[in-house]
Amino acid sequence: MKMSVIGCGYLGAVHAAAMAELGHEVVGVDVDAGKIAALSAGRAPFFEPGLPEILASALASGRLRFTTDIAEAGGARVHFIAVGTPQTKDSYAADLTYVDASVAALLPHLGDGDLVVGKSTVPVGTAARLADAITASGSGARLAWNPEFLREGFAVKDTLEPDRLVYGVADPADAEVLDEVYQRALGAGTPRIVTDFATAELVKVSANAFLATKISFINAMAEIAEATGADVTRLADAIGHDARIGRRFLNAGVGFGGGCLPKDIRAFTARAEELGRGESVAFLKEVDAINLRRRQRVADLAVDLLDGSVVGSKVAVLGATFKPHSDDVRDSPALDVAVRLKGLGADVVVTDPEGLDNARARHPQLLYAAIADEALRHADLAVLVTEWPQYTSLEPADVGAIMRGRRVIDGRNALDAASWRAAGFTYAGL
Ligand code: UGA
Repeated sequence: MKMSVIGCGYLGAVHAAAMAELGHEVVGVDVDAGKIAALSAGRAPFFEPGLPEILASALASGRLRFTTDIAEAGGARVHFIAVGTPQTKDSYAADLTYVDASVAALLPHLGDGDLVVGKSTVPVGTAARLADAITASGSGARLAWNPEFLREGFAVKDTLEPDRLVYGVADPADAEVLDEVYQRALGAGTPRIVTDFATAELVKVSANAFLATKISFINAMAEIAEATGADVTRLADAIGHDARIGRRFLNAGVGFGGGCLPKDIRAFTARAEELGRGESVAFLKEVDAINLRRRQRVADLAVDLLDGSVVGSKVAVLGATFKPHSDDVRDSPALDVAVRLKGLGADVVVTDPEGLDNARARHPQLLYAAIADEALRHADLAVLVTEWPQYTSLEPADVGAIMRGRRVIDGRNALDAASWRAAGFTYAGL
């Protein structure tokens, strides 16, 4: 099937390459000429395991191309909208500028029977509004909402083998077009939920709200555990054995960040308030507050471990990205901790296997080291904030040999406390 993907960021670039991998003929469109040039040359503009490989094979097959000219989307049967919906600068609401602009730009190129398929995360009600605009254009095109649940770091696998497909449609016939798009996944038994626009939009935001709530729940338990000497990891193991609760997403630590969970719960709150239902999701404000408290908690622990003041101490911050296997530093708890420690007067050096360029662009005031040893050398304190395997597999004795002081904060509860203590470290987990 011929398709276009409007927006070639994390979501769109992976989606375009994955659709071509499935045998479709795809044109990826983006206003950023640099991004289009990189993608056309087979270079992924961000770190995502597996993407360079499928990009190369899709480009070589001739089924995938990239352009800045939206007119080239004309003639495709399906048009995916995969642009960003960031948090607005002055409020918690989602900024729909890119969604609105891409649909407006697409309208003149739509043909009768085309299906515009929204994948971006949007406030409930957006799809109905866009459907009206498409109908009013008189093109005969239709709209469907097909939210995306991919995780960074696993984006290719999640796109090719989704754990469910959700179609928000106004007419059941539109679901058949999406069935053709996702034939392979459906053939493998992927569950498919066909529903209305509002439900499809809400599935996406409520899934992310649930995940954020699960993380903040366990972090709230971590706060109680810290006050009582209980072990939150063992607690998570124990409650996680109850299949109704489940162990996944119950890792206490410095909390969630990234381009999705934090802004999505805020946008959800803002939208619910607009709908006069603010009360229904008021708990998400608490979820956000618990999450942000964890970042300060790491800074407080650093002060404690350094006997009341971090001023003049060298602190090695292990990790810059919001999670491992990504180069994304958007709303990264790791960098937030680094900035807090620097603000308190510490001599902070941040290291990360993939995120340094992005971190440097966002926080040029911080010092960076390309390898962990360089950050750790003569440090008084090591703070693990992103659980990259390179850091969780560090040998405590080797680290102790190059540091000035033997202190470690495990901001992800990902280190083996006993072995660090055995190597003479003062260890503090979250
Ligand atoms: C999240 C959702 O998991 C995806 O399903 C969704 O499609 C995506 O947002 C999106 O809306 O686009 P992602 O932002 O890639 O995916 O990252 P997650 O794996 O969800 O992790 C989010 C944050 O939570 C990370 O900072 C991670 O370190 C943290 N986390 C995760 C915890 O602190 N504890 C946990 O137990 C799990």
